[in-house]
Amino acid sequence: MKPSTYFLRTFGCQMNDHDAERIRAAMEDRGYRRVSRPEDADVLVYNTCTVRASADQRLAGHLGAAARIKRQDPRRVVVLTGCLPQAEQAAVFTRFPFVDIALGPQNLHRMLLAVEQAREGGLAKGGEPRGFFEDGPLLSGSLPARRERPFQAWVQVMSGCTNFCTYCIVPYVRGPERSRPADEILTELRALVADGVREVTFLGQNVNAYGRDLRGSQKSGTTRTFAGLLRMADAVGGLDRIRFLTSHPKDLGDEMIAAMAQAPAVCEHLHLPAQSGSNAVLERMRRGYSAQTYLRLLDKVRAALPDVAITTDLIVGFPGETEADFVATLELVERARFDAAFTFMYSPRRGTDAATMPDQIPEDIRRERVRRLIARTQTIGRERRSRFVGRRLEVLVEGASRDGGGLRGRTRHNVTVNFGGRAAPGQLVEVAITAATSTTLRGTV
Ligand code: SAH
Ligand code: SF4
Ligand code: F3S
Repeated sequence: MKPSTYFLRTFGCQMNDHDAERIRAAMEDRGYRRVSRPEDADVLVYNTCTVRASADQRLAGHLGAAARIKRQDPRRVVVLTGCLPQAEQAAVFTRFPFVDIALGPQNLHRMLLAVEQAREGGLAKGGEPRGFFEDGPLLSGSLPARRERPFQAWVQVMSGCTNFCTYCIVPYVRGPERSRPADEILTELRALVADGVREVTFLGQNVNAYGRDLRGSQKSGTTRTFAGLLRMADAVGGLDRIRFLTSHPKDLGDEMIAAMAQAPAVCEHLHLPAQSGSNAVLERMRRGYSAQTYLRLLDKVRAALPDVAITTDLIVGFPGETEADFVATLELVERARFDAAFTFMYSPRRGTDAATMPDQIPEDIRRERVRRLIARTQTIGRERRSRFVGRRLEVLVEGASRDGGGLRGRTRHNVTVNFGGRAAPGQLVEVAITAATSTTLRGTV
């Protein structure tokens, strides 16, 4: 019998990328073969993001194809996972009537059974669409995952977020902040090392708060801080690189900076979203720090790790943002000298506090501000990357370069390097850096 097939398309952040690996494992362990075109699939899975309106719009384009395929052959099963169905819940079935199964990120473990039941006749009998949206404990942390590359792995150290920054929908769709016990994480790390993994990236919406929710519990003997977790992960041995995403400035303490500086495998890269340089805006965002404390924090990090790469997220056009507020963000960027910045136009999200704040900023102003901000952050990023030219950097080879010919890999600073020479994916090589381009480096082994 011909094996059943599935199509999977993922949007959004690294949390979703990791969930996609879990979807792959569930489907492929069950014998499904992945296909690259939705029209060839028995099961179509869309793993969605809803952090900004632009994410919803992108998805709508892809779902057009799913609707057409479903109309032609109603036996196909269309599944929506990720953050959009969690935000919309049962309303997804009215908005997207061709969807058979919808579930939020905390219900991923229910997907396979629901798919099988739908295929076994639920659909043929005109079965109702099914949705799974309950708030669950941290189950997905321990679900098996099929990794994209054998030598790199995501490791989820916590799920959810309880910060409720006023613009952000994540706490509503990913549930409250929950940490996995350190023992469980360390067991996973040992298994990954035994399986050939050399680089791990710890994932959490706010990894610096790791363990905060575990501290009342009875269990003892393991760490309940992120600094402790970094040191213990480093001590597991066999990992060349440990990365982590994302850090929140209000919870980044001295202990954590010391752990970064002292644990050899922990990479010299810190993603530290600033969001704005205006104290008035930061306060309305409920970020819990000022531009001054943010900059002082960067000074501390750089004093401990002089070569560290700092990247950030910035939002322009938050409700009430004046030209002077925006200029304060430009000033923060001048002072902070980010290696790279992800810049976003504020996008109102239903249910968040900022969506109903007065003085929403018109789109043309948001566009104009984001243009000015990108111009500045790109120039500074290029200047920062030029410090690597003439140096030899350790690069983890990931595969062939996208521009053809050579190879591609990443430095400990998380900068992509395109280079000539011979090396196999998964190998650590020393690359002589010869040039810095707009977002990458060039060199030779
Ligand atoms: N947990 C991470 C990031 C979560 S979302 C953190 O706390 O930093 C990733 C980024 O998307 C955020 O850092 C923010 O810059 C941006 N973002 C989130 N909600 C947004 C919105 N409503 N409009 C525009 N950008 C948004
Ligand atoms: Fe969203 Fe703020 Fe939580 Fe990050 S810390 S996920 S921006 S609410
Ligand atoms: Fe998007 Fe959900 Fe991540 S909304 S950014 S996929 S947590």
